[in-house]
Amino acid sequence: MAKVLIVYGSGYGQTQKIAEFIAKRLRERGNEVDIVFGKRLPRNLSPETYEAIIVAASVRSMKYQKYIVSFARTHCQLLQKLPSAFVSVSMAEAGGGFQTSWLEKFISDSGWKPAIFRSFAGALDYRKYNFITRMIMKKIAQKTRMNTDTSANHEYTDWDKVKKFADEFADTVA
Ligand SMILES: Cc1cc2nc3c(=O)[nH]c(=O)nc-3n(C[C@H](O)[C@H](O)[C@H](O)COP(=O)(O)O)c2cc1C
Repeated sequence: MAKVLIVYGSGYGQTQKIAEFIAKRLRERGNEVDIVFGKRLPRNLSPETYEAIIVAASVRSMKYQKYIVSFARTHCQLLQKLPSAFVSVSMAEAGGGFQTSWLEKFISDSGWKPAIFRSFAGALDYRKYNFITRMIMKKIAQKTRMNTDTSANHEYTDWDKVKKFADEFADTVA
């Protein structure tokens, strides 16, 4: 059993949902898990009191959240030392178009080279976007042959893949 910290970045909630799923699975496997939103880190958070850390972020305009890069930079030595993983959430993953340059930029900006990296497909949350974002995302969806029905949200996350990752991480920290 390990004490695990999950720090996530999320714009419309899909990475939060994935992070919560991983937390639930790790708890089921007997771990103690704290999950925090990277944009509003608790003042008393002490990452060094954890035995393993998972950092999750979503891609927005080809970049991960700045506050997640900042968390990784601040704690890069600890992340390098502990069992840790970086989880990426993007729509490109759904179409097989994940860009390794996003990860390379994250590594060069944060100084943390994650030993474990997983990329999961996110969601097209049309109902949560404002008008402009909805139109932009619809255009991108048209080009990439994703769902263009803006009257609903469309989830592309492969939950079996997320569960497999959580189980592998649980094995790593066991
Ligand atoms: C404004 C906006 C920009 C996005 N830019 C990208 C992008 O550059 N590449 C990509 O693969 N996905 C992109 N996405 C898709 C998101 O990564 C995907 O919707 C993900 O589920 C968002 O997770 P979140 O709700 O946790 O932020 C973008 C989504 C939005 C709304």
